[in-house]
Amino acid sequence: MHKLIIKGGKPLRGEVGISGAKNAALPIMAASVLALGKNTIKRIPELSDVKTMGRLLSSMGIKFAYDNGDVTINSSTINNFEAPYELVKTMRASVLVLGPLMARFGRAKVSLPGGCAIGTRPINLHLMGLKKMGADIELKTGYVIAKATRLRGASIYFDIPTVTGTENLMMAGTLAKGTTTLKNAAMEPEVTDLANCLISMGAKIKGAGESIIEIEGVDELNPINNYEIIPDRIEAGTFMAIAAITGGDLILKGCRTEHLDVITLKLKDAGLVFEDAKSGIRVIGGEKPTATNIKTMPYPGFPTDMQAQFMALMAVAEGTSIIQETIFENRFMHVAELRRLGADISIEGRTATVKGRSGLMGADVMTTDLRASASLVAAALCAEGESAIHNIYHLDRGYEKMDEKLRMIGADVERVND
Ligand code: EPZ
Repeated sequence: MHKLIIKGGKPLRGEVGISGAKNAALPIMAASVLALGKNTIKRIPELSDVKTMGRLLSSMGIKFAYDNGDVTINSSTINNFEAPYELVKTMRASVLVLGPLMARFGRAKVSLPGGCAIGTRPINLHLMGLKKMGADIELKTGYVIAKATRLRGASIYFDIPTVTGTENLMMAGTLAKGTTTLKNAAMEPEVTDLANCLISMGAKIKGAGESIIEIEGVDELNPINNYEIIPDRIEAGTFMAIAAITGGDLILKGCRTEHLDVITLKLKDAGLVFEDAKSGIRVIGGEKPTATNIKTMPYPGFPTDMQAQFMALMAVAEGTSIIQETIFENRFMHVAELRRLGADISIEGRTATVKGRSGLMGADVMTTDLRASASLVAAALCAEGESAIHNIYHLDRGYEKMDEKLRMIGADVERVND
């Protein structure tokens, strides 16, 4: 187990390279199950979640190799169709093998993900869609046991726009007989990136990135051929918040501005200055951020994955801000820890009221989930004195070499055994 020791209070300055998007990497790696032969994917970030997905694929008899961002996956040797509990409980995105297994082999045994720190996170909508496509679904001893001779196209409506639900059923539809329509589909850039990758494999998909997606089933797909995934908009947003909270001046390289619209809008309202730079986006923090309200919504709304980081910024803003979390029922785990650093935050249901303070003071804090850990890193970078952030494995799930990247821009941060 590791912890980060951070001595805060310094404006951070310099260039940061944004890595490939975790939430594009995971579904695209799962998509490799859809095609016979050697799949090659580029710009895959070195994250523990990527390693977990690699372990899952290998446990199914699939050949997986990772080499400095390049991933090779060959599913020709697949010999089992199960995603076991010990892997799914480590990473719920393991359920993304369900759609591809059902599409290609008509069989899957996938552990129900169970809850996680931020909520119960059921997969009922994934299973509803597969049932409509003709799958026989049985829930037994904590597992989903799914069977189908061949999935058939169906019209599927999501009560809630689910990201991985949209991704699972889009992948299921690529090899189904007939056309599948997903209504009230998730519109996140990572869904579109998966669709573009599937299209490069020969899939027939229209409307990805909009709320209605149409997938016309084909008989077989070609392996992924050097598909490069999109940059991570949440990592980019996190470094923008770090520039704002430390009053720093950063250039973010390799991110896509069109994926960062609302994050940029809200950070501009909070006083962050944006400039185009030759090598990327330049963000310049001011003396003191301005209190700004946010309400998390499905894309293109303000992303829930940026809520905790934005709250850290509001903890030192001028004025009081209201933060509403509408996606997950328990995504305020970072509040208790931010309070240990001196933040003044009160919670009423899914609404947090943040009274900006003149500054924060370093302390020992515990991370509970991926984005909460990013929030605590941002707060510690701003706090006076030394902070120790424990349980840093949460951060390693979703941020590639975060402490190295922070040192490159002048942060006093050290990773030590906990
Ligand atoms: C994806 O999770 C992301 N993970 C999450 O990122 C992200 O927070 C979330 O989308 C929302 O944007 C990956 O892409 C791997 P959902 P996902 O299904 O797909 C409810 C991170 O920090 N729901 O869009 O699991 C659900 O409970 C992670 O990188 C059902 O009720 O989220 C939630 O309230 C955390 N039934 C809402 O929908 C279902 O069958 C949105 O969940 C599915 C979802």
